[in-house]
Amino acid sequence: MKKSVCTIAMIGLLSASGQVLAAEGSQPGDNAVQVEMRLLDKAFKNAVDGLLLNMPEIIEGPFHKVHKAKMNTEKAIKKGAIKLPKNSDKLNEFVELDEAFHEKLVGLLKASRKKDMNAVKNSIHEIMDGCVQCHNKFKN
Ligand code: HEC
Repeated sequence: MKKSVCTIAMIGLLSASGQVLAAEGSQPGDNAVQVEMRLLDKAFKNAVDGLLLNMPEIIEGPFHKVHKAKMNTEKAIKKGAIKLPKNSDKLNEFVELDEAFHEKLVGLLKASRKKDMNAVKNSIHEIMDGCVQCHNKFKN
């Protein structure tokens, strides 16, 4: 009996870490927020390149992975599996900030589709303020 419980627990652990590892650039033990953040970091830096090199068409692609990761983060939050490094008791505020932030990302994608580089630039500035705002509040 003990043995089979242990095996089931191990399978659970393996599949959980397998899921996390499936995300690009992530490391074993990362939580859903960290997985999302690493993808976001890549997508954001790529967007900066898109602006600087006048290549709006490269901006959107990497954000699709961020969107999927965000859905995973939402699930993890609902399950109570997320503990934020700072102000962890203000999870509702985190969710609100995150929602508003993702609206800004949508704005960037719209601007990039229109190849409106001035709007892309303004969006990137706004987004970077959003990164800093949330990190100041919730990240060590
Ligand atoms: C709504 C809140 C929020 C926003 C917006 C946000 N972050 Fe984060 N970020 C966090 C939190 C919380 C952590 C810490 C997660 C942890 O360690 O558990 C984090 C961690 C990170 C990390 C470290 C991940 C790791 O390897 O542990 C990077 C890189 C990062 N963020 C980049 C960004 C960038 C770039 C942006 C903007 C384009 C951004 N973040 C926007 C909340 C946010």
